[in-house]
Amino acid sequence: QFPLGALPQLGCYNARLSDTAGIGCVTYDVVIIGAGAAGLMCALTAGHAGRRVLVVDHANKAGKKILMSGGGRCNFTNLACTPANFFSDNPHFCISALKRYRPEHFVELVERHGVETVEKAPGQLFCAHSAKELLGVLLTECDWAGVQVRLKTSVEAVAPLGDGMRLVTSLGRIHAGAVVVATGGLSIPTLGASGFGYDLARQFGLPVTETRPALVPFTLSPPWKERAASLAGVSCEVAVSCREGHYREPLLFTHRGLSGPAMLQISSHWRGGETLSIDLLPGEAVFDSLCRARRETPRRRLSSWLGERLPKRLAQALVEWHDDDGALADYGNARLQSWAAALSDWRIKPAGTEGWRTAEVTLGGIDTRELSSKTFAVNGLPQLRFIGEVLDVTGELGGHNFQWAWASGVACGNAV
Ligand code: FDA
Repeated sequence: QFPLGALPQLGCYNARLSDTAGIGCVTYDVVIIGAGAAGLMCALTAGHAGRRVLVVDHANKAGKKILMSGGGRCNFTNLACTPANFFSDNPHFCISALKRYRPEHFVELVERHGVETVEKAPGQLFCAHSAKELLGVLLTECDWAGVQVRLKTSVEAVAPLGDGMRLVTSLGRIHAGAVVVATGGLSIPTLGASGFGYDLARQFGLPVTETRPALVPFTLSPPWKERAASLAGVSCEVAVSCREGHYREPLLFTHRGLSGPAMLQISSHWRGGETLSIDLLPGEAVFDSLCRARRETPRRRLSSWLGERLPKRLAQALVEWHDDDGALADYGNARLQSWAAALSDWRIKPAGTEGWRTAEVTLGGIDTRELSSKTFAVNGLPQLRFIGEVLDVTGELGGHNFQWAWASGVACGNAV
């Protein structure tokens, strides 16, 4: 047991000394590990329901990913969010929580706090000014609900104790009616990401599905790396396919390879060594268009025709890569067919991805078959729960991952 002297540093006005857990142990109804989106949402929900809640986080700031997301304006939900926007080995698991806590509920919360929002793309809601306002909403609600948030706190051990759980932390020993693990995924370690949640799950015998970086840019090998670098900053709308994934969104050339929403989305489907198919002129019957242009404007150069449809730098680069630019009248059908294929079905094999350093999310995670989809409690161990990105539930780009954090946090916070 920790000495009583260790307790005042907690400074918890809503904590009480346990009668049952022994001298030197502070008791809460709920201890949440991780002060990110899911953890704070769970905390304020449980706090408002009258539970005594402590949130601990090893980082020096709460909600770092909220602050950094969406270019500092946080794409906090998607009005069109449905279970079909998520990847999971157990696709039915997310249905219940997403149905019960919908995007409109979260919009109502932020608007009640006077946060202005903006729909930057269909369904994608962002803060009009700064993600700081959104984090402010969550921390204010936590405060009103009497939740304690303790930063720079590490958790060294978690073990069942009677009906509850005992934690050994850098604050001392804590007894909790329930522990909620909201430690997120592995992406961007500099923002506090750790494998803690997965290790804890394994400690309790829960399987963890394979994890890999997703919503992540692709890297390329020579000569494509140099070619992409020469176009860094150029962007155009494409349709990209890989396996069962198809997206029509912008592609962005970068110094390392390919990025932009189209590439981030398809990265969730791609596996090492696979080839992407990119349609640079989506929605256009390219061969027919080229034949018509040859008939109507035979002196026109191919690069000029391309420059009308694509960014000029990309149009110029394409004819250079193919070493083929001339008057359309000089092109036979076979040559136009081969250009049509090159434009509508550009096959490119990425060298890899930028990995955890820049990935927005983790695909895979704790196997949800071992959890209740209503309460997020571990089957047979209701005092242990997991929420948010640490679970094997991963959303597409566009606000779905935060919606999952809110929905799973609320479902668990109401039940815990
Ligand atoms: P989250 O990662 O938010 O929180 C986990 C918390 O646990 C962190 O505070 C961490 O410090 C803490 N923690 C970890 N290990 C710990 C340990 N051992 N002990 C104590 N604490 C520990 N999504 C979206 O919907 N729209 C968007 O615009 C974006 N944009 C975006 C940009 C970037 C750059 C990234 C990296 C991610 C996004 N995302 C996103 C994804 C989104 O940020 C993510 O899915 C949610 O933050 C997940 O919420 P969680 O609360 O589950 O984890």
